[in-house]
Amino acid sequence: MNDDDILKIITTENNDDIESLFAESRKARDEVYGKRVFFRGLIEMTNYCKNDCYYCGIRRSNKKLMRYRLSCEEILACCQRGNGLGIKTFVLQGGEDPFFTSGRVATIVSAIRHDFPNHAITLSVGERTQKDYELFFKAGANRFLLRHETASHEHYSKLHPSNMTLNNRKKCLLALKKIGYQVGAGFMAGTPFQTPENLLADIRFLEELQPEMAGIGPFIPQADTPFGAYPQGNLILSLKMIALTRILLPQTLIPAVTAMSVIAPNGRELALDAGANVVMPNLSPIATRKLYAIYNNKASTAEEAAETFRLLYEKIIKSGYMPDMSRADALAV
Ligand code: 5AD
Repeated sequence: MNDDDILKIITTENNDDIESLFAESRKARDEVYGKRVFFRGLIEMTNYCKNDCYYCGIRRSNKKLMRYRLSCEEILACCQRGNGLGIKTFVLQGGEDPFFTSGRVATIVSAIRHDFPNHAITLSVGERTQKDYELFFKAGANRFLLRHETASHEHYSKLHPSNMTLNNRKKCLLALKKIGYQVGAGFMAGTPFQTPENLLADIRFLEELQPEMAGIGPFIPQADTPFGAYPQGNLILSLKMIALTRILLPQTLIPAVTAMSVIAPNGRELALDAGANVVMPNLSPIATRKLYAIYNNKASTAEEAAETFRLLYEKIIKSGYMPDMSRADALAV
């Protein structure tokens, strides 16, 4: 696809064109993965963050938010619960919390690795040094999620304070790849000031990086951030970006992210129908879920993980997909 083809897809409002895009992306997904949908258990380990991203509710300057961090024991208990549900991949996600020094993160990873020798451990703890990433890898981490957020330097500087740069984000992603992690990049659709050209750059960036995973979801305003009054990202635009990513990187593992189901009741199923093939049930303790408030109206049900999990599992089957509980490593390209 040349740049014009991609820009046309990004901007089209023609329903037939959009439907045939999704048909093509479904086909691309089905050829590689069939109807299987993979599970990753999400553990939100801290909502402290030293960064001040303008879009994110757990940004440092949000004084309204009560902060928490999980202990190693609490994290292991989340893993136990997930394992009891049959989950084979744990994703440890958090703000960039200085309390979690490289040593502490490595200790947690080692403890999980000890208790669950055959599970996949995914980290999503932000920008660190190459040395830190090496340490985590040696401790037993296999995968790392770090969205690039936007592949345009100019746009990046409109979403982040000046101490954060796209160059450093890219440097981290390359270091992670080199070490041997399965790497996830990604971006938000519909962030303030985003242009179709920015989204084209995001797609081109993914093509260049060839990440094993790509997280794509709509921007959702969070009231206590500088972007609190901006409109949320468009559902169809988000779905188009998932579809384009699937067509151009057919092997990528693409989650139907929670943000999709926040902007539309059937958002997760629509994401699957646009080419996604991963879901990430939340294993975090119920008490802390609502505090991991990266955006407003984040689903934080009072239900037990097991109950939510059963509903999710059934929904996936009803939508014509096949839940697959294997740890589903990225395919060797
Ligand atoms: N809306 C949607 N996604 C957000 N993220 C952070 N804040 C928001 C928001 N307001 C996403 C970022 C980050 C991921 C963990 O959550 O892309 O990388």
